[in-house]
Amino acid sequence: MLIDKFGRNINYLRIAVTDRCNLRCNYCMPENQHFVEREQLLTYEEIIRLVALLSEHGISKVRVTGGEPFVRKDISSLLKNLGSIENIKQVSITTNGVLTFSHIADLIAAGIKNVNLSLDTLKRDKFLQLTHRGDFLKVLNSFHALLANDFNVKLNMVVMGSNINEILDFVELTKALPVSVRFIEEMPFNGQGHAYSGLEWNYTKILSHIETKYKLYKEQDPANAIAVHYKPEGHMGSIAVIPAFSRTLCGSCNRLRITATGGVRTCLYGNEVLNVRDLMRNGVDDVRLLEEIQNAVYNKPMDGFTAAASAKAKVPESMSLIGG
Ligand code: GTP
Ligand code: 5AD
Ligand code: SF4
Repeated sequence: MLIDKFGRNINYLRIAVTDRCNLRCNYCMPENQHFVEREQLLTYEEIIRLVALLSEHGISKVRVTGGEPFVRKDISSLLKNLGSIENIKQVSITTNGVLTFSHIADLIAAGIKNVNLSLDTLKRDKFLQLTHRGDFLKVLNSFHALLANDFNVKLNMVVMGSNINEILDFVELTKALPVSVRFIEEMPFNGQGHAYSGLEWNYTKILSHIETKYKLYKEQDPANAIAVHYKPEGHMGSIAVIPAFSRTLCGSCNRLRITATGGVRTCLYGNEVLNVRDLMRNGVDDVRLLEEIQNAVYNKPMDGFTAAASAKAKVPESMSLIGG
């Protein structure tokens, strides 16, 4: 089992398969983002070895993230292999939707049912402003095709100054569509030394704003969920707020992250505490590899944010390497 010193049971692994992306969302990475060399990325064989090992020790859910997972070559083969690891009950993916449409058959073949789609605006021109590239209509196409193919779709909307006037439009989207729209507090991982302060639109403000127009009923949150769920009256879909910056969620955190370069992060706001790529390339056996990871997990912090915020005034990293 993977248990930390606070007794939290870690059963959810997030793996970033690439730091590259075909978009440049303002809150995630700058236009001139430096990407790592291909040899520095975990290979698919290394990823499968890791997940197979961890699946024998409590990991039952894997989320594939990035960067944008679909920009990595032959990702479908990885997804299929992950899906066939015996103790992995759920493989999910987080994507920006630009290339997703053409991979729907691959997702079905891999047994993936849960897709989180990042979309911060419903306006075509604003999409270009926020992402600096990318085709809004392709994302929309992917979104509707996923719903038509019965995927569980969650839309991630990062709430920033420039899209607050669309919050209610996103809620409206849940009226006739079976989608969960999640409003995420903006975090300081934009790769440009963003400060650890100054969040204006926190989750309570987002909720109060929504309640000016909609009657919300609290829904039961799944165990270990980081999102707080509500049902707008009479709507087919639902909404949620993710207090990613307010961090009301650390006590039930069940996550372990592996970055695209094999870094183990036991807290989104923490540093890399171990590098499993280096260990594997130096010939580590499974027993020692597991011990190292268990040791890292044991020391998972309860509130990494506070430590990080006091240690460094600004955040240097981009979310694309960490994987969200
Ligand atoms: P599911 O629960 O499986 O749907 O996944 P998820 O919501 O964790 O995945 P997703 O990739 O859609 O991530 C949504 C966002 O939640 C991330 O981008 C972060 O903003 C936030 N988030 C995820 N994990 C954490 C965490 O451990 N701490 C904090 N503070 N925020 C997190
Ligand atoms: N703050 C909050 N969420 C972010 N994401 C990327 N960067 C940030 C940030 N700085 C979100 C993306 C994606 C998820 C994995 O992380 O929108 O949906
Ligand atoms: Fe790409 Fe996602 Fe980062 Fe946007 S938030 S640049 S889609 S990795």
